[in-house]
Amino acid sequence: MSELRYDGRVAVVTGAGHGLGRRHALELAARGAKVVVNDLGGDRSGVGASAGPAQEVVDEIKKNGGEAVANPDNVATPEGAQAVVQTALDAFGKVDIVINNAGILRDKSFKNMSVEEFDAVIAVHLRGSFLVSSAAWSHLREQGYGRIVNTSSPAGLFGNFGQANYSTAKMGLVGFTKTLAQEGAKYNIKANAIAPVAWTRMTEDLLPADFADKLGVDQVTPLVAWLVHESNEDSGEVYTVGGGRIAKIFVAEGPGYGQNSTLSVEDVRDNWAAISANEPLTVFRNVGEQMGPLIQQLTS
Ligand SMILES: NC(=O)c1ccc[n+]([C@@H]2O[C@H](COP(=O)([O-])OP(=O)(O)OC[C@H]3O[C@@H](n4cnc5c(N)ncnc54)[C@H](O)[C@@H]3O)[C@@H](O)[C@H]2O)c1
Repeated sequence: MSELRYDGRVAVVTGAGHGLGRRHALELAARGAKVVVNDLGGDRSGVGASAGPAQEVVDEIKKNGGEAVANPDNVATPEGAQAVVQTALDAFGKVDIVINNAGILRDKSFKNMSVEEFDAVIAVHLRGSFLVSSAAWSHLREQGYGRIVNTSSPAGLFGNFGQANYSTAKMGLVGFTKTLAQEGAKYNIKANAIAPVAWTRMTEDLLPADFADKLGVDQVTPLVAWLVHESNEDSGEVYTVGGGRIAKIFVAEGPGYGQNSTLSVEDVRDNWAAISANEPLTVFRNVGEQMGPLIQQLTS
């Protein structure tokens, strides 16, 4: 089988100074991409800043014979996100691939979560992904090519104790990804999301230590690399990945219940089994498709 290459492609990877982003940057660079390694260089909760982590990854890429440039900006500000993309334009003349990966944690039970803790997490994960994608979008559209991967989380898709801020941001990224996929379709821009599990500084005290070796970041990057390759045709999808396992995660709708007369509270009670039924499931590709059963009912 032929090796997948990224020669001639320019990739921006946010939060690439550590963990998953670092691995994505190293892999793409090793396969021929020119890479902007962005990282603010703060601690796990987003406190502090240092140009060191991004530069260290760039040094490693260069030592391995690859091409990369460091960017230490904050993806959560419009100026910072603009500077990330501008770094790609200045150094390499274009941008083809955006991997929104930067992230922080401020875990607290909902009872104890402050507005600041909520806002700070939304700002990096959700606003940061919006801002960096937005800064790149006109370039991707104009060249008629783009590959975007947003980093969601199982915690967002399924909820997790102590992560009301994080899970809100991560589920928000699913809606964001699906809309970018639809708006980007005619420009050959594909946008997908991953919900990874990996042993990093973000999770080392959350995941069982026995699995540390098996949950390496190198078990996540192959999916990301595939999704940003030119031969990937899928868009608007979400995949969970980690420890050697990959699966697609769906937003699906049950068969439901419908009637043409005005619905009463008693109708809801009396038809609760049909309303709650889990099967058969339908996966809709857009809101137009999702309206289909309703339109059918309204016109029947
Ligand atoms: N590790 C997991 O199991 C797991 C699970 C689900 C989701 N994720 C997501 O994967 C992504 C990477 O996480 P990780 O586990 O590699 O953690 P990590 O802490 O090793 O990496 C996150 C990186 O983002 C950088 N960063 C933080 N705020 C930034 C900002 N404002 N601007 C630029 N860079 C910033 C950090 O400096 C850090 O290098 C995150 O979005 C995280 O939420 C990870």
